[in-house]
Amino acid sequence: MQKIVYLISLMLFISSCATVKLVTPTQSHMDRIQSKYPSYTLKDIQSGKVMFEQNCKTCHALKNPAKKTEEQWKSIVPRMAKKANKKEVRIDKNEQELILKYLITMSKTNK
Ligand code: HEC
Repeated sequence: MQKIVYLISLMLFISSCATVKLVTPTQSHMDRIQSKYPSYTLKDIQSGKVMFEQNCKTCHALKNPAKKTEEQWKSIVPRMAKKANKKEVRIDKNEQELILKYLITMSKTNK
């Protein structure tokens, strides 16, 4: 019995690590990012989030945007987009841009 309880809690623990709880972008995120990209809107960030959720978990679990800095995302996203396009996940330039801006907004740098 104790073994089962242990196994269940272990499973719960593992699954809670595997799924990233994405922070919903707020107006204060927008204020910060718009000083850098004035034409960037809440709609852009929301579509960036959707594209991130759809495209960036085909090969691995979603990575937490807040775990990396702006500079790290700037080098990681083009690298991942290249991988994705090789595997026919297809992330075009426009999508790549929106994903990157979303990640920058939610990054360690802009928290
Ligand atoms: C075609 C498969 C594939 C897709 C699609 C993909 N990745 Fe990856 N990703 C990988 C592989 C393989 C690694 C581990 C090797 C590496 O780092 O290059 C990785 C590693 C990573 C890492 C860790 C790298 C580090 O330097 O810490 C991050 C962060 C990441 N991916 C983010 C993303 C994001 C964001 C997207 C969506 C734009 C994405 N991935 C889409 C295959 C993919």
